Amino acid sequence: MNRRTAIAGLALSPFTAAIATAPAQAARPAAPVVSARRSKPNPAGTLVIGHRGASGYRPEHTLASYELAARLGADFMEPDVVITKDGVLVCRHEPEIGGTTDVAAHPEFADRRVTKQLDGFTVTGWWAEDFTLAELNTLRAVERLPAIRQENTLYDGRFTIPTLQQVLDLRKDLSRRFGREIGVYPETKHPTYFQQAGLALEPRLLAMLRRNGLNRGDAPVIVQSFETTNLQRLREIGLRTRVVQLLGASGAPYDLVSAGDPRSYSDLATPPELSRIARYADGIGPDKSRVIPRRADGSLDNPTDLVDDAHGAGLVVHPYTFRAENTFLPTDLRRGTADADFGRAIDEQVTFLQAGIDGLFTDQPDISVIARSDAAAA
Ligand code: G3P
Ligand code: CA
Repeated sequence: MNRRTAIAGLALSPFTAAIATAPAQAARPAAPVVSARRSKPNPAGTLVIGHRGASGYRPEHTLASYELAARLGADFMEPDVVITKDGVLVCRHEPEIGGTTDVAAHPEFADRRVTKQLDGFTVTGWWAEDFTLAELNTLRAVERLPAIRQENTLYDGRFTIPTLQQVLDLRKDLSRRFGREIGVYPETKHPTYFQQAGLALEPRLLAMLRRNGLNRGDAPVIVQSFETTNLQRLREIGLRTRVVQLLGASGAPYDLVSAGDPRSYSDLATPPELSRIARYADGIGPDKSRVIPRRADGSLDNPTDLVDDAHGAGLVVHPYTFRAENTFLPTDLRRGTADADFGRAIDEQVTFLQAGIDGLFTDQPDISVIARSDAAAA
């Protein structure tokens, strides 16, 4: 599939595109519901989570990307959350902002380019926590993957870096305009790093959810993290929303590493640890290779036991990240030879849906809406 055909409705007007997705949404419940302990796959109930918005079609973590995700049928918009020097939660994939903004073209910020240690890695660049919100507002977003997503470079320089509050405002506005509840799925990025910098994300996130009337178990909010301690801490200080523990493809949560705890993500994916996770979380967000790995030749293998194990512990499973371009697909689902061309992404996602997942992070939400319909029909 070509991305132009995937979002062909947008060539007419944003309004037309919203209408074009309406039939798939009409049967959806007003408030997306997460349910665990499913005995068999239920594709129709699977959540479509707009990963960094609709980042296959717009520069990631911009209001335009989030809004497009909702227009294309996503149930949730996914902002990654970092923080400014003056303590404002903003949406970027990581603290270093050189890869997704035009900061390098701002001579007034040239001396902010510094080298830091981030979770054990040495990284050089510009850092969100070294800028005030007013300073960040002078920057503009650019496409992270211009070689693969050349079409998205059309929008370079057009969009600002959103605050999390702006995303919550957008969520409210879009829910009203579209007549269905659209959720927000914020990820606390590098919690230990920000705590050590004196800019803890957690109390600010909780205060913001409270201010917006969203600190409820039935709120359209799911909080996620690759670290474990900060999610437990959020529970202790009063977070009531749903929570998802992310599980990387390899390695270990940095909070455990820095505390000398030897447990890895693979350890956390075992039944005893899943039961422990279930004390503070409602689900897991594993790298998709933990659900269906790839063979040595890169083709899709058979599912692992993770979905059943997680469901047995009462946890939903929301794997990441589904992307339509050949370069991200299993080798047996690619079409043609160009890395940027779309392959058989629908087939990949249907296979995962049939494995019993409860939601999926996707860069192209419209494709996932189709996959969900196909899997439900099958
Ligand atoms: O949060 C789910 C997924 O986004 C995790 O990967 O690195 O894209 O934040 P990342
Ligand atoms: Ca994320």
